[in-house]
This record gives sequence, C-alpha cells and structure tokens, in this order.
Amino acid sequence: MHTSELKKLLSSMSLEEKIGQLVQLPGNLQQGGLITGPAGNFDLTEEELRLSGSYLSMVGASQLRQLQTEYMARHPHHIPLIFMADVINGYRTAFPIPLAQGCTFRPDLVEEGARVAAKEASAAGLHVTFSPMADMVHDARWGRVMESTGEDAYLNGCMAAAMVRGYQGNLTDRGTIAACLKHFAGYGGAEGGRDYNSVELSCRTLREEYLPAYKAALDAGCAMVMTSFNTLDRIPSTANRWLMRDVLRDEMGFAGVLISDWAAVAELINHGVAEDAAAAAKLAIEAGVDMDMASPCYIKYMKKLVEEGTVSPDLIDQGALRVLELKNLLGLFENPYRFLDEADEEKLILCEEHRLSARRCAEASFVLLKNEQQALPLSSQEKVAVIGPYMNAQTLCGSWAVFAEEKDVYNLQDALLRQQGPENLSFAPGCPMVDPSEQLVGFKCPVAQEQMDLEAALQEAVSLAKAADKVVLALGEHKECTGEAASRGDITLPACQLRLLDEVCKVNENVIVVLFCGRPLDIHALNERAKAILVAWLPGTEGGPALSRTLYGHAAPTGRLSMAFPYAVGQLPLHYTHLKTGRPYNGNPALRFVSRYQDMPNHPLYPFGHGLTYTSFRYSPVQLSNTLLKKGESLTASVIVENTGSRPGTETVQLYIRDQVGSVARPVKELKGFDYITLRPGEEGTVSFTITEEMLRFWNIDMKYTSEPGEFIVFLGPDSQTENAASFTLC
Ligand code: NOJ
Repeated sequence: MHTSELKKLLSSMSLEEKIGQLVQLPGNLQQGGLITGPAGNFDLTEEELRLSGSYLSMVGASQLRQLQTEYMARHPHHIPLIFMADVINGYRTAFPIPLAQGCTFRPDLVEEGARVAAKEASAAGLHVTFSPMADMVHDARWGRVMESTGEDAYLNGCMAAAMVRGYQGNLTDRGTIAACLKHFAGYGGAEGGRDYNSVELSCRTLREEYLPAYKAALDAGCAMVMTSFNTLDRIPSTANRWLMRDVLRDEMGFAGVLISDWAAVAELINHGVAEDAAAAAKLAIEAGVDMDMASPCYIKYMKKLVEEGTVSPDLIDQGALRVLELKNLLGLFENPYRFLDEADEEKLILCEEHRLSARRCAEASFVLLKNEQQALPLSSQEKVAVIGPYMNAQTLCGSWAVFAEEKDVYNLQDALLRQQGPENLSFAPGCPMVDPSEQLVGFKCPVAQEQMDLEAALQEAVSLAKAADKVVLALGEHKECTGEAASRGDITLPACQLRLLDEVCKVNENVIVVLFCGRPLDIHALNERAKAILVAWLPGTEGGPALSRTLYGHAAPTGRLSMAFPYAVGQLPLHYTHLKTGRPYNGNPALRFVSRYQDMPNHPLYPFGHGLTYTSFRYSPVQLSNTLLKKGESLTASVIVENTGSRPGTETVQLYIRDQVGSVARPVKELKGFDYITLRPGEEGTVSFTITEEMLRFWNIDMKYTSEPGEFIVFLGPDSQTENAASFTLC
C-alpha cells in the first residue's frame, strides 16, 4: 500500500480502532499463548478484543492462520494482526545463548543464526522478534547478561547489526521477520546487577558506551525498538521524552514503531511517576511510546484521555500510522498470513541444515580458558570418565529459547557415545545440578530437583574417576539461574558441584572442566584445580555434538570471551574499558595509596577477548604504515601472526586503541576491530586494520562528538590485556 492509502485508511478509522493498533495483548488471553511476564488482569470487552491489533508470544502456523482469519473477518476495516514473540537464540533449533554468540567474534555466523531463526519463526506465523538485545553489560550478577553479546560496545554493535541483517534480509524475502531492538536504553546498567533496578549513568557514558550498539542495529535497518524497564537519570525509559524523542528519533533517526516492554507502561505507577493507569498512558504516549505491550493502560484509558482533551489526538494518529506502516512494510495488507506455511513449518523446523548451522555456531562459541599440559583434545585411546550434572542434561538452550524443546536437544553423553563408542567412556552425574536446599522458580516452570541419593551418587562418580585416565567434569549453573529475573549475588557454582570437584580431584589429577553457564562465573577456586577449562555456555540444540567434536579435536575451540570472568564477585561491575585513574596500580603490592583491592587482584581471572585453542601463535611487533594521521586520511596497522604449534588453528586478532591524553578521562583501551586468520603449523600470515580519524572520536569536554589531536597507542594482540603496541599522532 502506498503511504497516501495508509493515511486514507487511518482517516477512516474510529478513535477506538486507532487505539487498538497501539495495543499488544499477551498471548495468554488467547489459548496457547506463552507468558513471559506478569499476567495482568485485562478484563477486556468484546470490542476491545476485536480491535486490539497485535499479539505477543503466540506461534504455530495453523493456530495463527485461524486467529488471523477470524480476527480480520470481525475487524471493521479488516486490518490484520501483527504477531510478535521472543525469538532470541533460535526458534525451535536453538543456537548458543547470545553471550556465547558474542564469543564467536564472527558476525557472519551470528547473522546466519538469525536467518535460520527467522525462517523457522516466519513459517510458524511470526512477524516480529524481540531481538537483538544490544544492552551493554558489565555485571555478571545480572541474569540477563546471557541475552547480551557482552561487555564491549563495538562487539555488541557488530553482533546486533548482524542479527538485524539475518532476521530481516530485505523483509520482502521469504523467511524473514522484522527485528525489534531492545531495551532502550541502558537496561544492562542495573545497579547491583539486580534485574529491573535503577540505572545511574552519566550522559557521556550513556552516549559513549551504551548507545553505539543500539545505533549499529538501527543503522542496519532495525524495524522496531522496545523501551527498557529501568530509570535513567531517575526517569523511567517508558516515560522519558528526551530519550525517546530527542535521542532515539531526532538524533538517531529512528522512524519505526516504539513498543514498551511487558507492562512497562503500567509500571510507571510502581516507579512513582504516575498516580494511576491513565496518567501512565499519558506519560508513555507523550514520551513517544507507540505500542503498549501487555498492560491495560492504552486500551482502557486512552480514549477518555483523548476525548477529554488530556492527550492530543495527533499522538494517536502518529502512533497508529507507524503501526500501519509496519504492517504494510511486512506486506500484511496484501497477504495477512505472510510466510506462515504449515508445510514449511514441518519441513524447516529442526531440519539438518539448521541443526548443522547451530552446531557450527556452538563450536565457534566455546572458549578454552586454560589447557595445561595439553589436557585437551582427548585421544580415543584414553579412558575418560564423564561426570557431573551436565553430562546428560537436556537443558542446554537457555531460558530465552522459549520455543525450543528439551526433547530435541542432543546431549553430551549421547553425542560422545555416538562419536566414540562406549569402550573408553564411563558416565555418572555425581550430584544434582542445583543444591537441594535451593528452591528455584523459573518464569516458565518450577525447576525440578533431582531425587538423588547424594552420597551414593558421589561415590559412584569418584570410583569412575579413579579408574579413568582423564575426567571430563560437566559442571554449571541451571538454565533458570540465568536470564530474566535471575540475578544472583553469589556467582560461584552450587556447593554440591564444588564438593564433587574436590572429591574427583583427589583421585584423578587430569580433570577437564566443561562449564555450562549463562554468565561468567566466579571460578577462581575451580581454576586452581582443573587442568583445562572449556566454557560451553548454554550451547543450544546441538550442544552435545559440538562439544564431543571439540573435546576430541575434530573441531578446535576458537571462541574469545565477550565478557570477562571476574576473579570474584567483589570486582563487579567490571570492564576492560575502564577509565585511567589518578592513582593507577602498577602491580607493585608494596604501594598502598593506589587504586587496588587489598584482598584480590584488580584484573579479572580471564579478560575480555581471551581464549586459547589447540595450537599456539606468535605475534610480531605492531607495524604502522605511518606515525602521523591527518583528518580524512587513514593508516594501516598490521601484525604478522605465526602458528607455532603442531596443529592447524584459527586466531582472532584484536585491535585496541588508547587515546593518551583527552579533554576528559579516556578508557585505557577500546576495541576498534577484529579479524581472524587460519594458519597451518609453521605458517605465518599478516592481519591488517585500517585506522581512520572517525574511529578516534569521543564525547569531549564540550559534549561534542569529535577527535582531539595527540598521541594514540595501537594494540594488536590476542586479548584485551595485550601490550603489543605502537603509537601514532593525530594531527
Ligand atoms: C520482558 C523482557 O524484558 C523483554 O525482553 C521481552 O521481549 C518481553 N518481556 C516480551 O516477552
């Protein structure tokens, strides 16, 4: 439809109809919908139900076909519904959690994963996914770090843009869905790492560290944006006119639909900025929130607000037009079923190609933290005891793979047996996944506690460990311990798992820990005991085969930490891009009046960017094509990388830049690029990056986004702690 036709349609609609376009109802109001937030009491009239233009979390080709058909027949203008849901790390074929996808440092793989998810989801009738989440995260206590791609603005931007490209294609291509960027803005900065908590950020930090990843997703053409639950500068985002109108729309150029997060409009009352639901509706629409997700505020109060002159009808028109434009962009007026297709749904979901893609992504996301005496890869001749609660767990998809089913997961034990045969393998869980004293309630279901004789389970595991050459200890946090509403003050492993580790280490010195988690955990105790640690995250449907191939060297780990593993929870929040302080710690413990902890190191246990593989690499010193950079010109920074080990391998080379002196304090280092190179043993290759003046810009003392002349240090190395550097001057 042409815009003029849309406007004509809008002008023929009643106020109630227009408001209906601004409403998204939770799917549980229809049979079969999933609940991913508090289920409110909507008490809708038949007319309100007939006019509400969108559903959340309803999927399935035949169900949505029927719903769409019946809805359109009853709607006065036969305007189609738009169906949205959280397709976060895959639809039915689950990919690794987003934090793990960040560890691939491979936007191409992440884009492919989003495309697979879009194909399955669009066949099942979905039009929009609430992804990517481009929130910056610095605090591993926050459960939702699993849903972000990590602690770095540049990496997050690359990954968010890749996801948008993967989901949307050009939106008319078959198998695409629209993307909704979230949570605007700053949600990841929750104080104390506690979900839904307030955020305190300086405007400069917001602009410099938090907004760029959202911007990258918008520049990639992201169709929608979701507000965040938090306050920023004491203003809840859903009521923040400056943030939504001045920053998001005017500065960042976003012209699409802005939706609230689940019940966030109604929660303006809890925030204490609205005294009732009508006041909340007014605040939100005036801030620029087009759609009200899962709250009764717009549907119940907006009509009266407009009729009594409290809210301008223009705001309703603007919002409704944007929703109609989105429906039009998706082609719903021409074909309200879009790519919904029962046959495609059957054929595509969990097909071999999708499973393979998920496996490849999982393999690229594993991070080898340490590997003493080349404990990994395993050899087929070794007797290996596979112990721990994750050895045969089906819960590998993470709490945000809401449409993935555990029965479809290929677990580690099954994959190892299929790959290696039973001869040199033995298996025992050793302990439950969660301490029996802990009662976890997931947002979908209560966590089932295994009924286990704890002592007998431990003894069985210890005797297998004794008889084995090596032990693979599959430990980790339960999937319901990460994700939304899963913040934790203690991020060590459950006590029962640490006891298992102790007992196993007493009888076998070759312990390899495979760590399943949705956040960087505090593993400093474990780190001292294990010979090797492979972080598997929550690897998705194909987690088992991806791991069995990696453990036996059919694939090599190439992932790099997208978020540092802290030494202990007391270091949080933590990020390598911290500012220079007036009293930096130079590693000399005899100095007292410097910025340091007395009882633990300043630096993390494993830094951002870290990850080993089954071979080793040597870096040459950094070479610069010029030591002067003029505005409008560029220079090249390069390094020669040599494979010094005995296996072929892939190295991810990272480019960091430090601004030596600025008008405001500058980060010690910032990631500005990354690339990978695959080399045979003994082979060397050059990796180069182009550096331009634009890459050196920041928000200066006058709040201007600009660069300042002076000296810059370029680092090229394997992680954020590299000191392999050269310097140039911007003139
Ligand atoms: C609340 C979450 O914060 C958001 O990320 C999600 O998309 C919505 N619920 C919808 O499920």
